[in-house]
Amino acid sequence: MIPGRYEPVTRTPLIIDCDPGVDDAIALLLAFASPDQLEILAITTVAGNVDADLTARNARIIRQIAGREDVPVFVGARAPLVRPPIIASHFHGESGLGTLPVFEPGAPTAAGDAAQAIIDIVMSRPAGAVSMAVTGPMTNLALALRQEPALAAHLGPVVVMGGARSEGGNITASAEYNIYADPHAAEVVFRSGVKTVVLGLDATHQLRATPARVAAIAALDTPAARAATQLLDFAVQIEKTLVGGDSPPQHDPSTILYLLAPRLFTAVPVDLQVETESALTMGHTAVEFRLADPAAATCRWVTTVDHEAVFALMLEILAR
Ligand code: RIB
Ligand code: CA
Repeated sequence: MIPGRYEPVTRTPLIIDCDPGVDDAIALLLAFASPDQLEILAITTVAGNVDADLTARNARIIRQIAGREDVPVFVGARAPLVRPPIIASHFHGESGLGTLPVFEPGAPTAAGDAAQAIIDIVMSRPAGAVSMAVTGPMTNLALALRQEPALAAHLGPVVVMGGARSEGGNITASAEYNIYADPHAAEVVFRSGVKTVVLGLDATHQLRATPARVAAIAALDTPAARAATQLLDFAVQIEKTLVGGDSPPQHDPSTILYLLAPRLFTAVPVDLQVETESALTMGHTAVEFRLADPAAATCRWVTTVDHEAVFALMLEILAR
């Protein structure tokens, strides 16, 4: 790590809520490899890309690969608040981890459920002390906010991968997967007043794993880089066959990279509302930049990413 180049001033206490998921897994590898910048207090998992049992197992697999069994994994919601589950195994493989060999990890999940763990961890520390990265459907955080409304004011920044404005949708014409999978949970979170930084497709489509970047990661000789390479190789194949192109966007890793180097991103105050009624536009994020009082906004929308510098940081971390 080049001192002073990227790392935040203090070590950030963090909960990562995720649905691993190929890109969630890369995000976890980056977070686990940044112990000097991130104090990971817990991983909470949720049904999303694959079912709740698989996302919890997959988080434990990545935890074991990273040698971070010190971090507890709490199993979360098995279904969205209202809608039936919508899995995305076509993008992540039946296991949820693409072609990465899967196994039953040694260390078990922690006792208790994800929503309660979020409440206990956040409310037992000073206000604003604990941040979150949310890289799947927002069901766990919504359940926690419903159970403990004081959580909204007590939580530090919640960095969310979700939504889309200028880029359009990736699961429907107008919705991004994480919000579409549980729009009612997203509405609970964004209306709660919790402070959010949102990396929608407008941001994550700027951070792509190009062939040259995948090759640079493949040249690294670390367990994290080897796992990331296998995950990225799968993502490249899916991009080629289902989307077109050879450079998959790094959706979930962008949340961790934002936490590590916020200066490499531009985030502006917005009003963000979620469509929860229309069948046609369900899960659409209406992102409004024109605010009467920008200082009162609780949501920041990421508009630009210095993708060259962000990828350089990603490479540095995977080389550790
Ligand atoms: O739209 C991208 C999001 O959907 C990512 O979190 C990916 O893991 C999928 O869940
Ligand atoms: Ca995800």
